[in-house]
Parts: sequence; C-alpha cells; structure tokens
Amino acid sequence: MTLDLTTTTLPAGDAAAAAAADCLRGGGLIGFPTETVYGLGADAANPAAVARLYAAKGRPSFNPLIAHVATLDAARSIARFDAIALKLAEAFWPGPLTLVLPKASGCTVCDLATAGLDSVAVRIPAHPVAQAILRAFGGAVVAPSANRSGHVSPTTAAHVRADLDGRIDLIVDGGPVEVGVESTIVGCLDAPRLLRPGGVLREAIERVLGFALAEPASALAGNAAPLAPGMLASHYAPGAQVRLDAEDVDPGEALLAFGPVELPGAERAAAIRNLSAAGDLAEAAANLFGALRDLDASGARAIAVMPIPPHGLGEAINDRLRRAAAPRD
Ligand code: TXA
Ligand code: MG
Repeated sequence: MTLDLTTTTLPAGDAAAAAAADCLRGGGLIGFPTETVYGLGADAANPAAVARLYAAKGRPSFNPLIAHVATLDAARSIARFDAIALKLAEAFWPGPLTLVLPKASGCTVCDLATAGLDSVAVRIPAHPVAQAILRAFGGAVVAPSANRSGHVSPTTAAHVRADLDGRIDLIVDGGPVEVGVESTIVGCLDAPRLLRPGGVLREAIERVLGFALAEPASALAGNAAPLAPGMLASHYAPGAQVRLDAEDVDPGEALLAFGPVELPGAERAAAIRNLSAAGDLAEAAANLFGALRDLDASGARAIAVMPIPPHGLGEAINDRLRRAAAPRD
C-alpha cells in the first residue's frame, strides 16, 4: 500500500470535476468540498479504493462511511426509503442531512464501506462543486471528512493538504465551506433517531416530522453495531487539551471565544480566536474547526473555550467541542 503519492490541487471548475471523476474511476482518492466540511472521496463500489481511503485516513475500518449521490433516484438505488425517510429527504436534500437506511437490494456500495452492516448512510450534498463531481462521476462516492483519523475536520483545501498531502491523488479547491460542522445523521431503521447533531437543526427536522427524534441507541444493550457515529473518544481532537465552559483564561492557555470577550485573564491568552464576536451560531459553526486548528498551531498547552449556547447549531458545536475535550489515551 503506497502512501507516497503526488497530491495535485486544482481550482474548482469543469476541468477539476472531470479530473476528479477520472480519478475516482481509476480507484483514486480525492479531497473535495461539501457545504459541511471537505470530504475524502472514493468510488463506493470499488473495495480496493475504499481500502486505500481507510489507509490514507488511518481510520479504524469498522467505522462505516457516508455514500454521497447527486439525485434522489440515485439514493433510492442504494437505500430503501419509507414514508418518513422520503419526507426528510424531500425537506432537506440537497443539504447537510445524512440518512441511515436499510440497504436496497442491488446496492452498489461495497461491504467494506458499510462495515458489513445491512444499513447504509446516504446524503445528497448541496455544494455545487460536490454536485458537479458526483454528476461527472455518475456513481456513489463514499466520503468521510478529509482529515487524518482523530484530527479536526477540514473546512478549507489547505486543511486537507495539511493532513493528507502525499496520501491522496487530488484536492479540488472550492474555497472555505459554508456550514463548518458535519451533516446531521438521522437513523431511519426504527423510530427516526438523531445519531449525530449537525448542520440541519434538530428543531427543523422535528418540525417536518411533527414529533420528537429518538435519542441515539448507543446505550441499547447488546447492540454491537456502530450506531453512535463519531462516538470514538477524542474524535475531533486537536493536539492541545481543551477546557470547556471556561470562565477565565489560565496562564499559557489559548482562548476560543464566543460573543463579547470579558473573562478574566483573556488579555494574557497565548492566542485568541472568536467564533463569532456577534454571538451568531451559524458564523461560529463555520469558524469552529479552522479556529481549533489555528489555536492548536499556536503551540498553547491548552485551549479554554467560552460557553456556547446549546440551542440550534449550538447542539452540533457543543457536541464537537465535547469530543475535542474528551480524555485521550
Ligand atoms: O458532513 C458530513 O457528513 C461529512 C461530509 C464529507 O459529507 N462526512 C462525514 O463523514 O462526516 P464521517 O465518516 O466523518 O462520519 C460519518 C459517520 C460515522 O461516524 C459513521 O459511524 C456514521 O456516519 N455511519 C455511517 N454509516 C452508518 C450506518 N450504517 N449506521 C450508523 N452510522 C453510520
Ligand atoms: Mg469525520
């Protein structure tokens, strides 16, 4: 397994979409923008390509991948939609929602990409560059976030290169992403269940459904399937320690701020990034992973994080921050 590839970067456009499709057809790996985060794409039907993807990412191979497609017809050829799943697809696709559904018979997503489960995660991304690549390629593209396993998700092409240079074939640069946190994952295998908060708000989904989402089933006894996406400890971890709900800044700490910065010790912070000085959660989500990367690169021993409200996109932001703060081995 060679990981000493030459990684080409192309600016988004027709030529880049064609090159990305060629690369996928040849079993190659591409970094490409979606509206949530940059994805690391491979041909979902090609087990050798998917094996290369896991190796490039250094991801434990039991963690299943999301299959990205351009159209609802394509989604229906790989997964079975009941009435509720269809309602969610029609309300939120294309967009930052992933549905975990029963595999359709004839589903082309290889077993390695679904970790042998009889369900499959599907998403139609809204980003025009992702759409162009999917249409040029024609098939499903599996894509985790384009970072090394355990690292912070990439929101720019430069982040992708920092993690995966020499490990993938092509990066399509479509500029910084818009949403900044990954897709919301809803399992539709029994009662619709929120498996991961993300870019589509829980409140918006519940409004469409007309009832509340069930909670993750990770606590269900005896269920060994990886139903708790990204629940690996320190899944989104920067190198520095992360201290949540900080009410002051300790010596040597960097500060991840939200809203007006009035906490004691802020003036001596090793570095400061404000997710949104105006206290806007959408702006904060878009800035989250880049800010964590920047503060980590400052060399501070720890990052103090101001409290972020829990509602709306704050649910996904706090979820990622809790993982970043989780104890590491
Ligand atoms: O926004 C996103 O979702 C990005 C962009 C690139 O689309 N992708 C992304 O992929 O975040 P990844 O691999 O980092 O996270 C996908 C999550 C994993 O935690 C995995 O456990 C879960 O989806 N997943 C995939 N298939 C599943 C299945 N059949 N059942 C339960 N969870 C599943
Ligand atoms: Mg990820």
